[in-house]
Amino acid sequence: MDYLPFISLETWILLITCIGVFVMYGKGTYKTFEKLGIPGPKPIMYWGTVGRHNAVYYLDDKECARKYGRVWGGYELTKPVLAVMDPDMLKTILVKECLTYFTNRRNFLLNGELYDAVNLAEDDHWRRLRNILSPNFSSGHIKEMFSIMKHHSHKLTTSLQSKARNNEVITMKDFFGAYTIDVMASCVFSVDMDSTSNPSSPTPFITHLSKLFRFSLLPFMFAAWFPIFLPVLELLGVSLFPRSTTTFFQGFVEKVRAERNGSSHQNSGDFLQNMINTQAANGPTNKTQNKGLTDHEIISQVTMLLFAGYETSATTLVLLAYSLARNPEVMKRLQVEIDSTFPNKGPVQYEALMQMEYLDSVVSECLRLYPPAARLERVAKETVKVNRITIPKNMLVIIPIYALHHDPELWPEPEEFKPDRFSKQNKQNINQYTYLPFGFGPRNCIGMRFALVMLKLALVEVLQNYSFSVCEETEIPLTMDPEGLVGPKNPIKLKLVTRSVECN
Ligand code: HEM
Repeated sequence: MDYLPFISLETWILLITCIGVFVMYGKGTYKTFEKLGIPGPKPIMYWGTVGRHNAVYYLDDKECARKYGRVWGGYELTKPVLAVMDPDMLKTILVKECLTYFTNRRNFLLNGELYDAVNLAEDDHWRRLRNILSPNFSSGHIKEMFSIMKHHSHKLTTSLQSKARNNEVITMKDFFGAYTIDVMASCVFSVDMDSTSNPSSPTPFITHLSKLFRFSLLPFMFAAWFPIFLPVLELLGVSLFPRSTTTFFQGFVEKVRAERNGSSHQNSGDFLQNMINTQAANGPTNKTQNKGLTDHEIISQVTMLLFAGYETSATTLVLLAYSLARNPEVMKRLQVEIDSTFPNKGPVQYEALMQMEYLDSVVSECLRLYPPAARLERVAKETVKVNRITIPKNMLVIIPIYALHHDPELWPEPEEFKPDRFSKQNKQNINQYTYLPFGFGPRNCIGMRFALVMLKLALVEVLQNYSFSVCEETEIPLTMDPEGLVGPKNPIKLKLVTRSVECN
């Protein structure tokens, strides 16, 4: 000990005791699944099983499913997480017991100003918000919004014209992202952002929305290691969502509201106005009454709808373009269907669009191969037995959709893009709990129908006029993004070929 003259024996004892406690505590936290007899990857102390087989979390899920089967246990740092891919168990978790035991997603508590958004709200509060928002997503209401969507899909097609003519390499997200945000902003609060006119310079709107998907890692890790401090962090105003972003949207919505002078907008039919109308009809309420939304709730729902709809839909459109460029025979077949449904590049009509079978198969297959949300989440409210497996109270259950969609027993040749899996005939044999791009049950994606119409419309209109083509700059195969949604790490670049005659 001569070389450490300043450390006394007492200090050494204290140090060794601390290290002992640190190690014992670290090891002790990883007993949950051993006790429950559930297999899973071996945890590393304080790190858990994060990225044990692959740094991309959804590819890691796929590897875990291959190794441990359709139910396994892992640890996010120190937090036990039960992964379930078994279709029978999913039926219980997502539908049968959704409103009893599995109503809520995980709550980090660090939601900042978005604490009362529908996707984060819990139990009765969630039910009330969902009931108020649901009419915005009825078939009738979406049909009413179709002409707004068409305005933007037309602008999208026009904005691609010069790129195709000049044989330019196109960063697809610039265009599809601009289209998505323009549709969303018009339908949510009747503001024409006109992003499609200048897609390569993103508006502050798009920049902020993209930021919402990038969780700050530091508070996340702190919360996972020291959950006991969560309420303190919450009190201190620490949030996983960047404050600048939530403040930006708060300001934006307040400005839009202030510009609406009462009755002139009452019949505009946009989501914001529908929310304001419920408030006007019932008066501002507290959370327990099943009536209108509070001012704060309105801002949170608007922000969250834009957030939930933008990146998911834009990424899907980009991946659709990529999949079609790489599978020209599929694209040709789809163009034949498009041309026969809307001859001579005729205007796209809602009913006919919804009845296009091959289009539906292509979109469904893309969402199987690349489901934007890689996982669903539910938390067990009580200890409950699901198909002989005991799920303890407060256990976080994840449903690894990406791994489920790539399970070779359920989807032969899972990495291949084969829309015929979803043909009218084959569709009947698909177990609905094996295909979950929009989740399932009472807490599924509220914007599913809206998203499908928005995606299909853009795809049809673009394919009426152009064909997608891979070029030297197209990354094949894709490097997948390790963070956030399922999607490419690097921008997808393609070229467009103008279609002069039908079916060329
Ligand atoms: C391709 C596009 C989209 C995909 C793949 C997608 C997927 C999902 C998924 C997987 C969930 C979780 C469902 C569950 O837990 O069972 C979800 C929830 C949600 N989505 Fe989407 N979504 C899309 C577009 C949209 C759009 C356009 C909107 C709004 C206009 C939207 C709004 C929401 C909301 C508010 C929730 C939370 C629902 C709740 O907690 O009650 N989504 N979405």
